[in-house]
Amino acid sequence: MAKKVYLVGGARPNFMKIAPIYKSLKKNSSFFKTKIVHTGQHYDYEMSEIFFKDLGLPKPHIYLNAGSGLHGHQTAKIISSFEKVCLKERPDLVIVVGDVNSTLAVSIVTSKMMIPLAHVEAGLRSFDRSMPEEINRIVTDSLSDFLFTTCKDADKNLRNEGVSRKKIYFVGNVMIDTLKQFLRKSSKSKILNTLNLKKRNYALVTLHRPSNVDQKESFERILLALKTISSDIPVIFPVHPRSRKKIKALGLQKLIDESDIRLIKPVGYLDFLNLMKNSKLVLTDSGGMQEETTVLGIPCITLRFNTERPITVTKGTSTLVGNNTKKIVTAVKAVFNGKYKKGSIPELWDGRASSRIINVLKKK
Ligand code: UD1
Ligand code: UDP
Repeated sequence: MAKKVYLVGGARPNFMKIAPIYKSLKKNSSFFKTKIVHTGQHYDYEMSEIFFKDLGLPKPHIYLNAGSGLHGHQTAKIISSFEKVCLKERPDLVIVVGDVNSTLAVSIVTSKMMIPLAHVEAGLRSFDRSMPEEINRIVTDSLSDFLFTTCKDADKNLRNEGVSRKKIYFVGNVMIDTLKQFLRKSSKSKILNTLNLKKRNYALVTLHRPSNVDQKESFERILLALKTISSDIPVIFPVHPRSRKKIKALGLQKLIDESDIRLIKPVGYLDFLNLMKNSKLVLTDSGGMQEETTVLGIPCITLRFNTERPITVTKGTSTLVGNNTKKIVTAVKAVFNGKYKKGSIPELWDGRASSRIINVLKKK
């Protein structure tokens, strides 16, 4: 009989990760009967529904409506509502992705109910526990039965934490499955025309880490760098809702108005992929974008002091610069002067990670 599988997502970066897994599970419908569970951690149209449309996903079969809140409140709401769903339908397997609060909450319910748990993107570590995601990663991995990793560093981290070798599967990167699947389609996007941009002649920025945007000093240091860069090329900044609120609350709009930093709403996956692919460079604190720019060969100035994805620095196109104004501008100048490193594509980031995952799960 086909196994009942719940595939869970809740925040923007989860949707690119569940899409290829869902498609692979569907292709194997004699083995798996799959339901998509959306926790509702992200809920704005441009943070959620647009990705279901762009990525050809059906509407979530189960919606938990968690919404925003303090970590405890948000996590508890998901725990409470997901537990009820599991009690009613008792899935045979739950698959979680990434490192957001939804990932943690669902893992706790699943493992307490003795339901097998698979974590896709296991083993990543920034070794920085001030980052909320690091706690989510450690707890989720310690509870998971199947740990699917994107790189060998992650396997090593898990082994160092005492995870049995038998539970670890190095399968590659599902986010890159999505990128490869949609790259051609994204080239039909009209976003460059709409924003009046020329290929390789703008910088693309995203920011949402609390360590960058929650305090005025750090956010201001970054905006000052962006202001300088915007005197050379247009700076396109699709603003995450957390950052949008902080710009207002911290009184930073004036600084933006004085420069040529162009704030726009967050955009859908196809438009965003097109924007990334054609940019001169990307400046970001996003986890996923460090990986995507590495595969696209686009310079990625990472506005963080550490990363859980070191392979994007050692092999890829990412450079960690923190949030110091001068360091950011210096790194950008290196790109302008043609002195930036080239990078290469990490092992198994080949568009077939989700089929490898399904092959493992079919045998269990
Ligand atoms: C979350 C994840 C982070 C991930 C990011 C991806 C955690 C702890 N953090 O951060 O790892 O990189 O998503 O984008 O899980 N908001 C809206 N509309 C929405 C969603 C959020 O207005 O649709 C606003 C709310 O004011 C909310 C704030 O954004 O309080 C933050 O949302 P939240 O999901 O708590 O954390 P993110 O910063 O989005
Ligand atoms: N992304 C998008 N539109 C945007 C900004 C980002 O489609 O306006 C995509 C991006 O290409 C990547 C994912 O969202 O696939 C990254 O999500 P985010 O930065 O929110 O989370 P993180 O990766 O940091 O967890």
